[in-house]
Amino acid sequence: MPDPWDHPDWYDLHDTTWTAGPEREPEHYRELVLALPPLGAENHLVDVGAGTGKLSVLIARGYPKLGRITLLEPNQNKLDRAQVRVKELLPDAMIHPLSAGVGEGAALPKATAAVVTVGSVLMPVMEFRGGTLHQGLAWLRAALNDLHDLAGPEGWLFDLESLAAPWDRGSEEDPVRRLTMAELTDEFLRAGFQNVECVYRFRDRVILKSRPRSAR
Ligand SMILES: C[S@@+](CC[C@H](N)C(=O)[O-])C[C@H]1O[C@@H](n2cnc3c(N)ncnc32)[C@H](O)[C@@H]1O
Repeated sequence: MPDPWDHPDWYDLHDTTWTAGPEREPEHYRELVLALPPLGAENHLVDVGAGTGKLSVLIARGYPKLGRITLLEPNQNKLDRAQVRVKELLPDAMIHPLSAGVGEGAALPKATAAVVTVGSVLMPVMEFRGGTLHQGLAWLRAALNDLHDLAGPEGWLFDLESLAAPWDRGSEEDPVRRLTMAELTDEFLRAGFQNVECVYRFRDRVILKSRPRSAR
């Protein structure tokens, strides 16, 4: 396929406009909260790559009776901030901060979550780790295996991502890049997730909902 940027009409339509842009971010995160099942005192949420708590805070505002939340984040300073923010909103909840990441061989809790959320982690982390696409996919597959175990057979996974642009290309030996929707969906299926559904999309911004198969 020729590079779409070489086509003058395509160029004029898309110049600086393909990626959704930061102004879409509140909608993107809000849609994830709206896609969740109801959460209450009996439920456990695991927020993977919680950062400073942006997504957990939105969920805590929507579900102030949430019983238990695990914040998984390898950056200790961000994790500390996320913990403080969530504690303010959920003073009665059990809050477990866990300084760890997925896809790194860390020992992680298994299969007690009603919902596992991943807010803009898989594609950016895969990209920022560098190397080839082959190496990126190896990390992604390990990360998805961890997410599969974290969710367990009763859990749902909600993954908010920004995908590859239409002009991104390259095989496994080329530099790492973000994945297309079809590629990412295939990786979910390969890791043992089922019912993979896109519950939101605006240009590169997507939310995928899925649940693990009970036995892999
Ligand atoms: C783009 S930020 C998103 C943070 C937060 N979820 C949000 O939506 O604001 C990506 C986060 O993933 C974390 N991270 C890096 N490596 C990770 C890994 N292996 N597993 C989980 N999270 C990781 C980073 O420290 C960073 O906080």
